[in-house]
Amino acid sequence: MDQAPRDAFDHADPLRRLTLDELRLRTSMKWRTYPDDVLPLWVAEMDVPLAAPVVRAITEAVARGDTGYPSGTAYARALADFARARWGWTGLAVERTAIVPDVMLGVVEMLKLVTGPGDPVVVNCPVYPPFYQFVTHMDRRVVEAPLGEDLRIDFTVLEGAFRHAAAGGGRAAYLLCSPHNPTGTVHSAEELAAVAALADRYGVRVVADEIHAPVVALDATFVPYLSVPGGERGLSLMSASKAWNLAGLKAALAVAGPAAADDLARLPEEVSHGPSHVGILAHTAALQDGGDWLDALRGGLDDNRRLLADLLAERLPTVHYRPAEGTFLAWLDCRPLGLGDDPAAVFLDRGRVAFSSGPLFGTGGAGHLRLNLATSPELLTEAVRRMTVAVA
Ligand SMILES: Cc1ncc(COP(=O)(O)O)c(C=O)c1O
Repeated sequence: MDQAPRDAFDHADPLRRLTLDELRLRTSMKWRTYPDDVLPLWVAEMDVPLAAPVVRAITEAVARGDTGYPSGTAYARALADFARARWGWTGLAVERTAIVPDVMLGVVEMLKLVTGPGDPVVVNCPVYPPFYQFVTHMDRRVVEAPLGEDLRIDFTVLEGAFRHAAAGGGRAAYLLCSPHNPTGTVHSAEELAAVAALADRYGVRVVADEIHAPVVALDATFVPYLSVPGGERGLSLMSASKAWNLAGLKAALAVAGPAAADDLARLPEEVSHGPSHVGILAHTAALQDGGDWLDALRGGLDDNRRLLADLLAERLPTVHYRPAEGTFLAWLDCRPLGLGDDPAAVFLDRGRVAFSSGPLFGTGGAGHLRLNLATSPELLTEAVRRMTVAVA
């Protein structure tokens, strides 16, 4: 009975519901890395209250004392239902999934299944910095295939990287980021099919990080890599953690295409010990019942992309921003401002606003920064004001 009013909030833009004072009470990385005079728009946490079904799932689990080890396939079934309803994809088979502790550890495990020590892993730079850190930490080699000027996959460059990677004699993999962090690019079905064809030609295995999949503009469509022709040999990592702000509630799913089922079957059993039971309950509730909240978020992010474009056009017109369809991230080319390789450092120092440093994203990152759009329009406006002050 008392659930209806609480859930009714899930139709309202969650980005407009918390004040700066409320956010500063948070103890997570976004809010505790810098002193209180710094406005943080860096790490990929969102300034949102949780969706009501997620709060309910966690609260009820705690009330039951249901904080033991995970069991069952509810998370995978919820993801399969979500994939069918949202993306029209009926090919996500629960028996070809495995629960992993989080997306990056899942990426590591998938790469261990299809490559060996010293083998090459192709990435489209600029890209999420842990792609470099985790891949090198597991004793694989990163091969860069920079995105094109339009921030989309450059197929000539990708083919060159695949050829180079395959020529070494080892087992090559391609770590696809879909949608792409930091640019927000949502790859089309045609592009993904072209990836699959190219990967097949060069014997490269595709591991797709699809963590941002649910977070696309209201008029955009995400295409799962495993759903495109040729994607059957792929492995994907999915999670509710980015879309519903659940990074602290660890859980994710590895999904195999039909022709990769044998690979996933080799995943050691102990990997399933890592995820949190309460995390799985939260992720499952988000996918099952968090659709209204997600759509309100997507609408709010559409507003924020337009707002950022308008603010920059008005106050910092030389900064180049190409609003994209996916993620809650914005990739800003600040080179015309002449602030050197790391403009985020200058904005932090002079403007007291924190962004992610472009050079960490690999080749193509110098002179750029990544801004986290998942905040209120007021704080986004304040962030651009601080940028303006920093270069005045
Ligand atoms: C592309 C991408 N992959 C993985 C992650 C991290 O996910 P997890 O915390 O589940 O490892 C992020 C976080 O921002 C991300 O943007």
